[in-house]
Amino acid sequence: MDYLMFQLEKDTHTPLYEQLYNEIKGAIIDGTIKEGAKLPSKKKLAEYLAISQTTIEFAYSQLVAEGFISSEARKGFYVQNLEELALIEKESPVIVMEEKEMDTISIDFSPGKIDTESFPFSVWRKYSKEIINDVNKDFLQLGHPQGDYVLRQQISSYLYQSRGVKCTPEQIILGSGTEQLMPLIIRLLGKEAIYGIENPGYPLTHHLFLDDKQKSIPIPVDSEGAVVSKLDDTNATVMYVTPSHQFPTGAVLSATRRSQLLSWAYQQDNRYIIEDDYDSEFRYTGRPIPSLQGIDQNQRVIYLSTFSKSLMPSLRIAYAVLPESLIMQYKQKFSYYAATVPRMDQQILTKFMDSGHFAKHLNKMRKIYKRKLEIVTKTIANFNPIVTISGEQSGMHILLTIRTCKREEELIALARQTGIRVYGLREYITGDLENDSDPQIVLGFGGIDTNDIPSSINALINAWEIRKTP
Ligand SMILES: Cc1ncc(COP(=O)(O)O)c(C=O)c1O
Repeated sequence: MDYLMFQLEKDTHTPLYEQLYNEIKGAIIDGTIKEGAKLPSKKKLAEYLAISQTTIEFAYSQLVAEGFISSEARKGFYVQNLEELALIEKESPVIVMEEKEMDTISIDFSPGKIDTESFPFSVWRKYSKEIINDVNKDFLQLGHPQGDYVLRQQISSYLYQSRGVKCTPEQIILGSGTEQLMPLIIRLLGKEAIYGIENPGYPLTHHLFLDDKQKSIPIPVDSEGAVVSKLDDTNATVMYVTPSHQFPTGAVLSATRRSQLLSWAYQQDNRYIIEDDYDSEFRYTGRPIPSLQGIDQNQRVIYLSTFSKSLMPSLRIAYAVLPESLIMQYKQKFSYYAATVPRMDQQILTKFMDSGHFAKHLNKMRKIYKRKLEIVTKTIANFNPIVTISGEQSGMHILLTIRTCKREEELIALARQTGIRVYGLREYITGDLENDSDPQIVLGFGGIDTNDIPSSINALINAWEIRKTP
């Protein structure tokens, strides 16, 4: 290492040597300068930073004294092993611990993971090449703030055919994920809005409402989805729901509750429903359930969906369909913001949808996830009635209920000790959970290879030491 670039300020009360010491120490702790690395010589660094060699000398001596670096005669200064320094362990930033943790996880049952084996790489590559071409220079320019019109046209016809959503391309806003669109919707609905949120529910909603100091009221969820009648006891004006596949319990909002929810919204002019239809493409049993937006008669549903499940979470493309009344307000308040999705990705996706590859991909993936779910269900059936499943009609995760005296945290820790990551229902709950209830685990299976499912589940149950008694 010949140089180290740090911004040292000459006009502050902190001496230069101390600033340099702090910068190098920080870089060693956060792993930017790795163990064993050789620091620049005092002469080189002094020239590079345009400060005196004595300043470097002071900083290096302090780092040597504290054990961050060692001085080797005629060789130079080397970064030491941090683990030998108890002090550093305490200060070690989260990022270093996360990296270490990732290394030891061999099976991750995250509900956010998708199958990566069946992605149509060649088609995606072909369309990328066609887009990144100097005859198509327009993609270099900023497009429409709501996203390219042609892509919004594709989405509106796809939504109508597959989800019964009725909208024009003008009502659609593209964003780089549900997590980017939600704050926008919150701003659009104004400070007076009070939100009902499903409990347990999508953690993003809990965080968003807390961060924005927006009022939110947890609404319980049972086997028929959100208990809509509870809304009447609150002063909520907007209800966020995942009706097709409640996140994370997997419940489907029953027909009665759907009409109850719409009636609730119609009772006052300022009431809205945010329908998050995040994984509705993957429904395996029964007839498809139409979206709430499709049966809404009074423009009270804000429909949200994403390509994170249907294509890939890293694409970062989601969309909101706003009722006409809100789209006017949106245009007035927000149209000076540029679209948050790169045009290159928008154009590749447009081609992918227009050519029929998206529909084909969905059909293929539905079969793959259905197969994975069947294997999950079959493997877990061996442990019935100790372990039972719910929420298995759709999506890429299920809910496990485990009859054991072990607590949820214990189950997570036992799995973790054998390199398996699982997610407890408590992570998705606002407030307290009944203490005597059986532990529940949200088990994502989308990212586990089909052939590895039985062994992964068996390894999990083994880690829990809850074998069925013969
Ligand atoms: C309930 C819910 N909504 C939306 C999403 C997708 O979010 P994004 O579009 O930000 O990837 C997820 C992803 O796991 C989800 O669980």
